Amino acid sequence: MTSVIIMAAGAGTRMKSTTPKVLHKISGKEMLYYSINEAAKLSNDIEVVVYHQKDRVIQAMRKYFSDIRFITQEHSKFPGTGGAVKCCSPKHNKVFILNGDMPLVSADELRKFENIDADIVMSVIHLDDPDGYGRVVIQNNEVIKIIEQKDATEEEKQIKFVNAGVYLINKEILEKFLPLLDNNNASKEYYLTDIIDLAKKAGKTIKAIEVKEENFKGVNTKYDLANAERIHQNRIKQKLMRNGVIMHLPETIFIENDVKLIGECEIESGCVLKGNSIIDHSLIKANSIIEDAKITNSEIGPMARIRPDSEIIDSKIGNFVEIKKSALNNVKAGHLSYLGDSEIDSGTNIGAGTITCNYDGKNKYKTIIGKNVFIGSDSQLVAPLTIEDDTMIAAGSTITKNVKKGELAISRTPQKTIKNFFYKFFKKEG
Ligand code: UD1
Ligand code: MG
Repeated sequence: MTSVIIMAAGAGTRMKSTTPKVLHKISGKEMLYYSINEAAKLSNDIEVVVYHQKDRVIQAMRKYFSDIRFITQEHSKFPGTGGAVKCCSPKHNKVFILNGDMPLVSADELRKFENIDADIVMSVIHLDDPDGYGRVVIQNNEVIKIIEQKDATEEEKQIKFVNAGVYLINKEILEKFLPLLDNNNASKEYYLTDIIDLAKKAGKTIKAIEVKEENFKGVNTKYDLANAERIHQNRIKQKLMRNGVIMHLPETIFIENDVKLIGECEIESGCVLKGNSIIDHSLIKANSIIEDAKITNSEIGPMARIRPDSEIIDSKIGNFVEIKKSALNNVKAGHLSYLGDSEIDSGTNIGAGTITCNYDGKNKYKTIIGKNVFIGSDSQLVAPLTIEDDTMIAAGSTITKNVKKGELAISRTPQKTIKNFFYKFFKKEG
């Protein structure tokens, strides 16, 4: 077994944000979530180093994980990645050290480190544009040292091998060399990367494993964040398509990490599927948004919005229909409606422009609509309201009282007609 240390204490200044860097989300989940989730596949001893806005970071991660240890860095005394690891006490003899800003690293990639025999195994990436990363000096296949960009000479900056920021290190190396780190550098920080130089000089073996940027990308800016999310999205969508989902212009579709698609679903361009949504044997037409909703055997959109806690079964929902916290079973709602806090049963047709008036400014109320109901266009259904089976609501009605089985409800001002009004008004001959 190995221990894992995840460094998540940094200020993340380059993100220019009030949110701690590791809590910025990709595909709907915090970056740090992914690191911990992968680490948990490898280890039963995970320490997450926190400092800046640590309460927020701990609170966010406690939602998902109960058995990890949060360690507070002594940041004022020992700033930097070296300072972060100094505070930890891993239990096992081998220790993975991960940056908390690398959301694309998978447990499978990390297992490759375990197959290499060395005192330190570190990850390097060969990049045409190495800007922002620490440069790795390699001679005769041996790592000599890492130079941070801020401390690099112009010549060193030309090095194209960079430190990806993941290490597998023997615990005794940490115990021996962490106390020897200093902060004589451009950032006045204790760099973990200086351990390489110290270990090398003491005759330890340091091996580099070349990894791909798409798996080990570090996120330091919001531009990096967007690029990491694009890579992550591609992974999600590739997996879904391999499992039989049809996607039109997948690069325009956004699907969050926990969304599930079951069976041969079809997703048209521009759709956004969020939260814990489940889409089961359904067609989601262009530019629709599904948030934390369950859609089974239905057609949604184009341009529909299905909001949290909705369950839609065997139904057809058309353009500009918004549905919130509602259960629809074998229902048609083709155009321009808001259906909130409602239950609508089988065989019912919701006319264009129907609105459930579910909110009186203080409280929300339910609208219950039974089977085989015909709701005429442009109706307002003022909740709380029950419309029983086999009923009709005349177009343009404002319904405030319950409608009983078999009834027609109509509430309109009677129509008046005035002969030749047009010609009089415009003073024209008719
Ligand atoms: C670090 C490496 C660099 C490497 C790059 C890869 C060092 C000195 N440099 O640089 O060689 O190319 O990662 O992405 O390690 N952190 C703490 N406490 C601190 C400072 C940072 O926990 O005092 C955490 C951060 O929250 C972050 C991680 O360590 O998750 C890396 O810190 P960051 O400032 O992003 O380091 P880089 O400049 O990217
Ligand atoms: Mg970084």
